[in-house]
Amino acid sequence: MDLGQVFTKEIVADYMVSLFSLKEDAVFLDPCFGGGAFLSALDRMGKTKVTGYEIDDLLFSSATERCPQYALKKNDFLQAYSHKKYDGIIMNPPYIRHEKINDLASLGVEKEILAKDALYKELPSTANLYMYFIIKAISLLKKNGEMVVIFPGSWLQAKNGNRFEAALYKNCSVERQIHISGDVFEESALVDVLILKLKKDGKNRQASPEYIKLLNGNLEAYEDETSELRVKFQTPFFSISRVRRGLTTGCNGMFINPSLDSNTMPIISSPKQIRGYSTHGADTDDLLVLDSEMQHNAMVKSYLDDWEHRIVATGKPETLAKKIKENKAWYSLNLFDCQGIIFSYFVRNDMKFVYNDSANVVRDNFYILYPTINKWVCFALLNNLYTYYQLECAGKKYGAGLLKIQRYDIEELTFPDTSAFSSTDLSRMSRLAENLAKTGSRELIDDITTIISKYTNISYESISYEYKEIVKSRLENV
Ligand SMILES: C[S@@+](CC[C@H](N)C(=O)[O-])C[C@H]1O[C@@H](n2cnc3c(N)ncnc32)[C@H](O)[C@@H]1O
Repeated sequence: MDLGQVFTKEIVADYMVSLFSLKEDAVFLDPCFGGGAFLSALDRMGKTKVTGYEIDDLLFSSATERCPQYALKKNDFLQAYSHKKYDGIIMNPPYIRHEKINDLASLGVEKEILAKDALYKELPSTANLYMYFIIKAISLLKKNGEMVVIFPGSWLQAKNGNRFEAALYKNCSVERQIHISGDVFEESALVDVLILKLKKDGKNRQASPEYIKLLNGNLEAYEDETSELRVKFQTPFFSISRVRRGLTTGCNGMFINPSLDSNTMPIISSPKQIRGYSTHGADTDDLLVLDSEMQHNAMVKSYLDDWEHRIVATGKPETLAKKIKENKAWYSLNLFDCQGIIFSYFVRNDMKFVYNDSANVVRDNFYILYPTINKWVCFALLNNLYTYYQLECAGKKYGAGLLKIQRYDIEELTFPDTSAFSSTDLSRMSRLAENLAKTGSRELIDDITTIISKYTNISYESISYEYKEIVKSRLENV
């Protein structure tokens, strides 16, 4: 049976214990002590009040022999009931994929049982076992208590990572985020390993990454020159907005700027038509909008006949040729609400989210975002250097300094948790956003960024420096 038994090396265990900044008589917990790497490290540091859990008989017995002074229990930690809270928790949780969790049924660990526990309700059904351990451990931390945990860094990229992260950061700040490389574990070569030091302070701050490596029995810090500044916050995109692509006509030649004077409505089809951060006063093209009634108009009929002829003759565009063949209303478009915030698919120089207050139809070279929170707060969360920087990192670079942003790049954006913002900052931020739409003054973006910087661990100075650098390097080859 795979119990996720990967043991931490002594030097790493000592290092992890050294990260605590707790008072002398702090009370500690190791929820799955295995061979007792952390118990011994805590002992070496003179810690006397330690509780531990381990589900494996043999490991439990050998660790109890080594550390008889500690309160060690042979129990399943995930279902153990405890009213006791801890100042410090240290752990290397078992890494077991969700499909394998039920293999532990004979020990009482089953997905169905875990799913019934309200504590784990925010975890996705695909959660790895270590995620359950971390959530439970956080629930056992005292206010301002600290947890030092080592686990695979791969969850940062994992699909279900966002929900786990949201649950993880709900009550905690990340005080240290240490990427550790080298042979950190006794018998396993995991490449991407992360040590987090969390503090249950309800502030949701996030530290910038640090890098250390275990080389020839020593731990050495190093600068990760290659890595970009990692901007990742606790609020996922879907908590503030929805997004979709603008209108696809299927045949721009026929639908955009038709040689007909009537039956059209304005459409924004290029970012060049927009001045500033609002579509108010934007230039527009004409979009042909027809229904079956209008076909009886002689001018319209001749226009449509002409296009139908061309489409049938060339078989292009395929979708329209197919509709014509199937006798469908091939000339009418499915229009939808475009009022919201729009963003151009391709970025040239300045990145910007634009308020579509004119409610013009918008073509598919834009994304349309529909805020699900206050629209000006959402507008501010989008128009600031933290968000632009995330998109600069995520986008694909094309020649001529062009950056292509995919819909999933937008969906992967993260934002600081505005519930932690003071009400003054929140209302200042939304006023700035409203003014940005009105005046188009780019300095307001710096003002919004400055407010947001108060709630992150990446200062205004570093984000504006990094943003300038990344844009400069994109435009350098132009
Ligand atoms: C990754 S190992 C870490 C052991 C040790 N803390 C270390 O760092 O060397 C995880 C440990 O969790 C134990 N374990 C697995 N499921 C458990 C459960 N439900 N309750 C308590 N311990 C469990 C495993 O037997 C294993 O020893």
